[in-house]
Amino acid sequence: MTIWPTRVRGLAWGADYNPEQWPEDVWDDDVALMRRAGVNLVSVAIFSWALLEVEEGRYEFGWLDRVLDRLHAGGIRVDLATATAAPPPWLTTAHPEMLPETADGVRLAHGSRQSYCPSSPVYRTKAVALARALAERYRDHPALSAWHVNNEYGCHVSRCYCDRCAVAFRAWLRARHGTLDVLNEAWGTAFWSQRYTSWDQVLPPRATPATHNPGQLLDFDRFSSDALLELYKAERDVLREVTPDVPVTTNFMAAAFSGLDYWKWAAEVDFVSNDHYTFGEDPDRHVHLAYSADLVRGLAGGRPWLLMEHSTSAVNWQPRNIAKLPGELRRNSYAHMARGADGTLFFQWRQSRAGAERYHSAMVPHAGPDTKVYREVEQVGAEYQRIAEVVGSTVDAPVAVVFDWESWWALGQSGHPTSDFSYSEHVFGYYRALWRAGVTVDFVPPGADLAPYRLVVLPALYAVDDATPYEEHVAAGGHVLVTYLSGVTDTRGHVHLGGYPGAFRELLGVRTEEFHPLRAGQTAALDDGSSAVVWTEHLHVDGAEVVASYADGPLPGVPAVTRNEHGAGVAWYAACGLVGDGLERLVRTALDGAGVPVGPGGGVEVVRRRGEVAGSAVSWLVAVNHSDSDAELPAVGVELLSGARASGSVVVPAGGVVVLREEEV
Ligand code: GLA
Ligand code: ZN
Repeated sequence: MTIWPTRVRGLAWGADYNPEQWPEDVWDDDVALMRRAGVNLVSVAIFSWALLEVEEGRYEFGWLDRVLDRLHAGGIRVDLATATAAPPPWLTTAHPEMLPETADGVRLAHGSRQSYCPSSPVYRTKAVALARALAERYRDHPALSAWHVNNEYGCHVSRCYCDRCAVAFRAWLRARHGTLDVLNEAWGTAFWSQRYTSWDQVLPPRATPATHNPGQLLDFDRFSSDALLELYKAERDVLREVTPDVPVTTNFMAAAFSGLDYWKWAAEVDFVSNDHYTFGEDPDRHVHLAYSADLVRGLAGGRPWLLMEHSTSAVNWQPRNIAKLPGELRRNSYAHMARGADGTLFFQWRQSRAGAERYHSAMVPHAGPDTKVYREVEQVGAEYQRIAEVVGSTVDAPVAVVFDWESWWALGQSGHPTSDFSYSEHVFGYYRALWRAGVTVDFVPPGADLAPYRLVVLPALYAVDDATPYEEHVAAGGHVLVTYLSGVTDTRGHVHLGGYPGAFRELLGVRTEEFHPLRAGQTAALDDGSSAVVWTEHLHVDGAEVVASYADGPLPGVPAVTRNEHGAGVAWYAACGLVGDGLERLVRTALDGAGVPVGPGGGVEVVRRRGEVAGSAVSWLVAVNHSDSDAELPAVGVELLSGARASGSVVVPAGGVVVLREEEV
């Protein structure tokens, strides 16, 4: 199986390319500018369905032939889309039943994109037919390098509540639960008189008078992720049949999107690709970028992955679309590369004149190539050629964070002790503390092998049937840091009895009798100077040592952070919503206890990739300086961008990057 876009030399560099928005005389200019910028891979035809199948069954490939021929002549490889992300108006008009429906029963019209129901047989048949037509047309085209199926599945419509989805949901539930009795038990339908006596009574969680059944919601989330995955697989299977040597991907939105269980999806792509956009107003946006990149590397199982989209400057979908600072595009690309991306592409090549995204930046701005953006694009394109040797290498990470889409879904429901908790913000809070400590993190799924990691963080790992693997890991000498809202329920959403955090009580040596979420804006002080927001709980130690207790708030004197020796290892429990310095201190203490060295900090991101050059094992130190002062790092080796030798230290310029091939000393 081919696991990387074929015949892309070095790091991939390029963009979504939408030439159909431009007259053909612009295309030659495009290819010339791409060559100048070192572009070697572009994604083509993502939103071209209406121009490829102009009416039912009438395909017009001529224009795409000419695009691909030109790109090939320019030496640029093509990640060819199956064009199924936006069905054309002729199709949705002929088959309005293929349009998606919201929980309120509103049918969503065409006129933007992604206007299809995942369970629609018409959509599926037409999409698979288009994928087949494209595969048959371009199977031997020399520019074809990879397949880009659809685009950001679920981005706009990840849940559809229509009648067809109701039928598909019931079939999925039968396969999962077998009988209605099991379903009734799993969903706890004895509550509120919800007992089902026939499958056809079961519905998607449409708008109801009061809070939904949590089991129904969770199963609908699982079903919806699977339903889109089935659609993806239907296209992929046709592509694999027609072009077995061309790798297939679809672009994820891993860190930003709860809709799909990407652990399941990642197993179905030949290489993982992802889209990431920073929030211009977020001062920690580069930390969020690192978080995304580490999560994507986890999805890729540690193998190289492709950043399919980021932005050269502003996007157009935030409240205020802030342009990137000089050097930020470059730092963003390198930060993804540092964390295992073997290519960084953008949305999009040439900024649109018309359409919904005309104020979104691109590699070639409205103002043309004589711009900060295009010059920086050219600079990085040239530099990537000097660091091509990193391709295929992996990333060192001593710490793992267990990330769980099912817990994200479950904790996103209403009816919880507080609505102030956000799974993604919570996980990111711990990630940021690790980032500030200069530690690289692998994200792993529940059930992963934890043996390679010195410290494992379980942030709000809520839905856990059985914590035995974690107990065994710690008993054998592992260190774990568990945070509140972990192990509270099983994977059906039923609470583990006998005290929280049910599944982890034994491991943590604690028992909580009651949750005490804090009021909006309230802070509880701890006796070690830390403070907590959002969450406290009435915890008793049952073997664990108390690290800090509440000094005020609803539970003065009650333990808030604990440490338990379990067998040969250590299990920490953060039973409250630690913030700021207190959170960083706990993370650093746990790192220290686990023997994990911390990095330079101060806004300098340092990551090590390991691989081979000419048959010998080598490592590269990639450093990105997000601060406005130069930083000096200990290093011996060759800095590949400048060619300069470092014989003890290297300076990472303010706002700059270094890629240094290390030498053993
Ligand atoms: C997503 C989509 C692109 C484009 C960008 C804009 O990543 O895949 O088509 O809409 O967002 O940021
Ligand atoms: Zn539907």
